[in-house]
Amino acid sequence: MFASRHVVRRVALRQTRRWAHTQPKLQSVTADDVAHFSKILPATSILSTLPPLSTAASELSPFNNDWMNKYHGNSTTVLRPRTTQEVSEIVKHCNERGIGIVPQGGNTGLVGGSVPIQDELVLSLGNMNKVRSFDPVSGILVADAGCILESLSEYLAPHRHIVPLDLGAKGSCQIGGNVSTNAGGLRLLRYGSLHGSVLGLEVVLPDGTILDQLTTLRKDNTGYDLKQLFIGAEGTLGIVTGVSILAAPAPQSTNNVVLALPKFDNVLPLFVEAKKQLSEILSAFEFFDREVYELAVKHGQGRALNEEDIEGAECFVLVETSGGKREHDEEKLNGLLESLMESETPLINTGVLSQSPSQFASLWAIREGLTEAVSKEGKAYKYDISVPLAKFKEVVDATRERLRSKGLLHADAVKHVVGYGHVGDGNLHLNVVAANYTPEIEAALEPFVYELVASYRGSISAEHGIGAMKTHALHYSKGDVSIEWMRRIKTLFDPRGIMNPGKVLE
Ligand code: FAD
Ligand code: MLT
Ligand code: ZN
Repeated sequence: MFASRHVVRRVALRQTRRWAHTQPKLQSVTADDVAHFSKILPATSILSTLPPLSTAASELSPFNNDWMNKYHGNSTTVLRPRTTQEVSEIVKHCNERGIGIVPQGGNTGLVGGSVPIQDELVLSLGNMNKVRSFDPVSGILVADAGCILESLSEYLAPHRHIVPLDLGAKGSCQIGGNVSTNAGGLRLLRYGSLHGSVLGLEVVLPDGTILDQLTTLRKDNTGYDLKQLFIGAEGTLGIVTGVSILAAPAPQSTNNVVLALPKFDNVLPLFVEAKKQLSEILSAFEFFDREVYELAVKHGQGRALNEEDIEGAECFVLVETSGGKREHDEEKLNGLLESLMESETPLINTGVLSQSPSQFASLWAIREGLTEAVSKEGKAYKYDISVPLAKFKEVVDATRERLRSKGLLHADAVKHVVGYGHVGDGNLHLNVVAANYTPEIEAALEPFVYELVASYRGSISAEHGIGAMKTHALHYSKGDVSIEWMRRIKTLFDPRGIMNPGKVLE
């Protein structure tokens, strides 16, 4: 119903092109390869079900299955190098042998990019977890790719700096994974994307060469900015082993409030008002609908709001302020809340303002816990899209209606269709929570959702990436010329097609 002629024509073109781009044939890891890896790495850094190691398959299971338990690989071998040199030697061997490699960080990705499709080798970065340097004057942090995001935050705290990125997966995801997915998260509104705050990268290229672009310069206009290619490449062009990133000064004062709105239509005017009144101290503006809030409460994410505070609310917005002076920031935030409550046509019903660090954390825990709540409730089909802000609700409603019309909206099939996301970034997370992953539900959702997004000229991936999930749908957001140049870049870097095969590009 939403497919324009333009979209249909591009599908036809893509079908033709698919024949011209057959993947190079890849090899399975053998016992001889494991013997070779044993010369590069200590035994403690190798897991392999192949002889002579014969590790139990259950030990490889966390590396073969993704966070949602939706994507499953069949790797026999996981390598956990500690140095860039070790990564380089492993990759060189794999390139010579034609063995596919899946770089893996915290394995929190949500598009099936971090696990093998077949039996590719998993190269896990978790043992590369040292901070290399931090300059408190410039705020530039250089770290191994395997550093966990939360540990970098903890490292920076005594230096009164923060990582310019925050997400619900912070306790597991790694900075190399964040860079490789160009993760957005909860601070993008304030600090912008990693394309701006990452200053340099060290990358092991698919032939094993080490590309050292680990600069700590704010300004460097010496030709093509190659590092940008690896930000968001999802491990298809090389393995990020080191990251140089501009940390931000820690705010002196932070506040947050959860606002209960009578209807979705008020979200946009509220955003305009919040930007106008809070200006430089507005640091997050996160939306979640009533249904997903109820799931958060049901599954113990954050502390439930009082019943009287949420009565009649269709959705919620979490507003965070970060600034330099507590009195000034509180005055501004209170001013906003008062003007919202006193208005003749109030945009909000109520607001729950945090009064202590623990309440601040508890309000954030509701928002950050939505992903986990949805996963605990059932099997989530996650669509991470950019559409015009005014269309957020329309997309959720249209998807719900679609499933209803297919007879799939009931407890044994689809239990919930919910929306939340980063309003400030125009990014909606449409989540369809089902009892099971089934071909019927998938067929009802795809290409329906992608066509809907394309009809708004939106993006089928605002932040999670393409991974294995959306390779077939890339053309809904990228034209033929763009895809062709992406292919050429891929072939240039990785002619044997060993880096994360089957991800991003078909
Ligand atoms: P992985 O999942 O291990 O890998 C992700 C991709 O990057 C894969 O394609 C992998 O091959 C590649 N990769 C990993 N490390 C490297 C490396 N060193 N070199 C080359 N390639 C590599 N995402 C957001 O954008 N915003 C959010 O707010 C957000 N919130 C989340 C909340 C939860 C609870 C969860 C589970 C996920 C969330 N995500 C979010 C998705 C995910 O956490 C991010 O994409 C994260 O950046 C992935 O990091 P990771 O280390 O887990 O990478
Ligand atoms: C979020 O914003 O919570 C994340 O991107 C994860 C998700 O979409 O569930
Ligand atoms: Zn998100």
